[in-house]
This record gives sequence, C-alpha cells and structure tokens, in this order.
Amino acid sequence: MPNTQLLAPDPAGLKAAAAILRAGGLVAMPTETVYGLAADARNDRAVAAIFDAKGRPRFNPLIVHLADLSLLDSLATLTPLADRLAQAFWPGPLTLVLPLRADSGLSPLVTAGLSSVAIRLPATDVAQRLLAQFNGPVAAPSANPSGRISPVTPAHVMAGLAGRIDGVIDGGPCTVGLESTIVDATGGAPRLLRAGGVPVEALEEALGQTLSPPHKGTITAPGQMPSHYAPRGRVRLNVLRPAADEIWVGFGPCPGATLTLSESGNLTEAAARLFHALHEADALAGKDGRIAFAPVPETGLGRAINDRLRRAAAPRG
Ligand code: TXA
Ligand code: MG
Repeated sequence: MPNTQLLAPDPAGLKAAAAILRAGGLVAMPTETVYGLAADARNDRAVAAIFDAKGRPRFNPLIVHLADLSLLDSLATLTPLADRLAQAFWPGPLTLVLPLRADSGLSPLVTAGLSSVAIRLPATDVAQRLLAQFNGPVAAPSANPSGRISPVTPAHVMAGLAGRIDGVIDGGPCTVGLESTIVDATGGAPRLLRAGGVPVEALEEALGQTLSPPHKGTITAPGQMPSHYAPRGRVRLNVLRPAADEIWVGFGPCPGATLTLSESGNLTEAAARLFHALHEADALAGKDGRIAFAPVPETGLGRAINDRLRRAAAPRG
C-alpha cells in the first residue's frame, strides 16, 4: 500500500507528480470538473492500477487528457464536427470521442479495445502544467472509489483513496464541479453520451444542429449506470416538503433546508456545489439516514445536475 503524498501545486510538486506518472504510478490531479485519477495512458500496468485502486468492476474506457493539441494527431482523427466543438470549448469541460489511430501507442485498456478514444483538454492551470511537464497522454477517470460520489476537493480524494494511490495534487476545490459533457464525434450525427459541464444548448448553438440523445440500453459510461454517485443513505428527489428526519438540500428559497445547492437558484453555483452537498449530506445522514433534494430545473446545467441526482437516488444494484 503506497503512502499517499499530498503534493503542492507548485513546480516541485508538479515535478514530483510527473515523476510518479513516468514511473507508472497514480496521482490525483485537479481539473475544473472533478479530480481525476491520472496514469500514463501508454502503460498497461499503470492503467490497470487505476481500475484496481477504484475497485471498478469492469474495464470501462477512460478519458485521455492532453495539455494542448500538439499530441492529438498522433492519437486520434479530428473530424470536422469535432474540430468545431474543439475550437469552441477546448480547453474546458468537454470530452470528444474520436476515431482512434491504429498506431496511437495507447494501452488497449484505455479504450477498452474500441476503435475510438475519448479526449479532453482540461482548462485548469495546474492540470495543464502537469500534462505539459509529463508531455504524454494521461488517462484519468474521476478519483473516487467506483460507484461513489465524485471528488471535488483533495480531502474527498484522500477520504476515498488514501493508501491506494501515490499522490494527490492539492489544487483546491474544482470550479465547475460536474464531470465533462461527452459527445460522440466519430462521424455521422453527433451524439450526446453524457450530460456535463458544457450545457447541451451551448453545444447545439456552436454546431448549428441538434445532438442525438444517447443510445438506449447500452451502458457506455459508468456514469450511465443507473446507480452511481451514491451516498450511503437513501435519496429522494423533487422534494418541497421534507420529512422531519430527512437532510434537506435546497435549490432557490427553501426555508429550513440543512444544505443548499444555490440559495439564489443559480445553476452554475449549484453545479459547483453539487458533489460538495452530496458528500456533506452523506456525512450528516450516515448509512441509515435519508436525504431529500429540492427540485432543480431541467435546463442548461440543470440537466447534468438532475442526471447525477437521479443516479444518486436510483435503487442500488
Ligand atoms: O470531467 C471528466 O470527464 C472527468 C475528469 C477527470 O476529466 N473524468 C471522468 O471520467 O468523469 P470517468 O471515467 O468517470 O468517465 C468517462 C467516461 C467513461 O465512463 C466512458 O464510458 C466514456 O467516458 N468513454 C471513454 N472512452 C469512450 C469511448 N471510446 N466511447 C464512448 N465512451 C467513452
Ligand atoms: Mg466517475
């Protein structure tokens, strides 16, 4: 079991983190969405160690993170459609699924043997500096035990994975607070695979066309599993009158709420607070307690927020 180091987001800390990656180790890195559990995407053993540390039941494909566009052509083909989205939203909370190059050198565990690869250029300065220093493709799922709430602070990462990974870079809280939006841009009609930090409305505006919804019935992302992002206690949604024993998480005016996603009803603030609130409610409710969320509108970032809340509330498999 490694002794998990908390690394400062300064040149010495980033140098140490890049050295861990080069040696095939695991480092949690801050991004604007959530903390990612980073490993060298070309190293089979390092990528396998990600699944082991998370206790992920299956080998789902992982997102490859790049510092900038310079390595992209060696890994994947940027379709015209993807190029438009990349111009508009990279670096940022958007992941594009692209045709994989046969000679990419990526571990097949990263792509789960598919002929496509998911790529993202994160916007957070600390992530960009780590990726630039490492100078290679970095595979990173969210840095939480499988099925649990995504981490948006270094303390969340430590609580879930201390002793299982080599280091955590302390980049403070994540600014967006929701995972990236994933779009299949392999060709043909662009398809939304996961709602996230870039609202669908913004993508459709940049594309000048509507996005097809996810394929029904095929689970392509762990975030697509019905129960995910789950606190230990039971979760109810769209609650305006909570029971006396419920931890009530408000949105907009909710007198008496224990916690709030956004008192003013602001969706950006609510997205940034969502996983904090889930972690806090989980700590307050414990495994036998109950958590109730006030309704959140289904527009803009509200779609991704409601997607995560529905999975947090789903019956456990
Ligand atoms: O914001 C984020 O996306 C964070 C940060 C760390 O970048 N990462 C993240 O990773 O949420 P993860 O592993 O929790 O979810 C990534 C999802 C996977 O579940 C996977 O199914 C989907 O991306 N994915 C990866 N490669 C794919 C591919 N070739 N085709 C379809 N889906 C893919
Ligand atoms: Mg995840």
